[in-house]
Amino acid sequence: MPSVEVPAAETQADGQILGGNTRAQSRLLKPLTYSGSLDQFKHQDLTPVIGREFEGLQVRDLLKWGDERIRDLAVLISQRGVVFLRDQDVTPNEMKDLMLRLTELAGCPESSGLHIHPLTEEGSELGDQISVISSEKQKKGGGLTHQLSDVSRFASAGWHTDISFEPVPSDYAMLKIHTLPPTGGDTLWASGYEIYDRLSPAMQTMLESLTATHDARFFLDEAERLGNPLRKGIRGNPLNQGDRLTAVHPVIRTNPVTGWKSVYVNKGFTKRINGVTKDESDLLLGYLFNLVTQNHDAQVRFKWRANDLAIWDNRSMWHCATYDYVEARSGDRVCSLGEAPFLNLASKGRREDLGL
Ligand code: SIN
Repeated sequence: MPSVEVPAAETQADGQILGGNTRAQSRLLKPLTYSGSLDQFKHQDLTPVIGREFEGLQVRDLLKWGDERIRDLAVLISQRGVVFLRDQDVTPNEMKDLMLRLTELAGCPESSGLHIHPLTEEGSELGDQISVISSEKQKKGGGLTHQLSDVSRFASAGWHTDISFEPVPSDYAMLKIHTLPPTGGDTLWASGYEIYDRLSPAMQTMLESLTATHDARFFLDEAERLGNPLRKGIRGNPLNQGDRLTAVHPVIRTNPVTGWKSVYVNKGFTKRINGVTKDESDLLLGYLFNLVTQNHDAQVRFKWRANDLAIWDNRSMWHCATYDYVEARSGDRVCSLGEAPFLNLASKGRREDLGL
């Protein structure tokens, strides 16, 4: 991936770093600041902690502008968690172009590019790096939804962050929904910064010493069941390959763009907190998952209109689709890869950093 200049800094290594991988490190040495270049567009923060919606801002125009605005968009996405751009006239290739510039300008490692999902079929209709989100495909049984709906009737079972089973998971994801049912099909996002801030200092400190195992080996069964072999080769970063589909990450991670800590376990993929007993792991994971699903004031729920586009920071947010419709719903998703997750013990929570 071609490298672009990222604002240099004195040091991000001003605290002890846990986790990470020298082969997939963020190029940022300190968090980025927002210059205000997108303030001229009509926008609204959807809740105090998460979500910003823009009207009149087109990805196609953004792509013609200089790096400052695209970097500002990356900073806003990382700070607000998810940004919605209404009514986009944009092709899947333009989505990929924006994704690549966003991730580069936000300091992704040289080794990271766009993700190829292990279940993406060879010769997929829009290319390897676009996941087609389709209710028709889901009816045949696909992805996390199938696995979860088999064991749970709670709509909240679908909360996840994308591809955390990869050693180098996603920094940003972009989803455009072009086909919608007359009603339903909303998507929810929740803030991992806010969930970190709701923990007591004692619990924060304990969780900061722990790692968790993220496991998507159910995709192996899925690949067999669907008759599609799992993708061979590199999935967007040389550290992401093979059929292990398992990774160990810090339970609390630092987002290099904001410098804020967030909780990084999710219902979809995190199976075990390491270094504690299974019972303790189950209890802790259950507690953390409940904080995510039961705090609607840490969430935003987005009602799509045709061709709306969402871009979110997968390092620090979870999301959950709503399967409450029968008609067709489809769209295109692109996921970029960031750094191997790390925790900088000197980094802060969002509320502390903003003086809230
Ligand atoms: C996803 O989980 O990335 C898709 C979300 C949605 O279909 O709303």
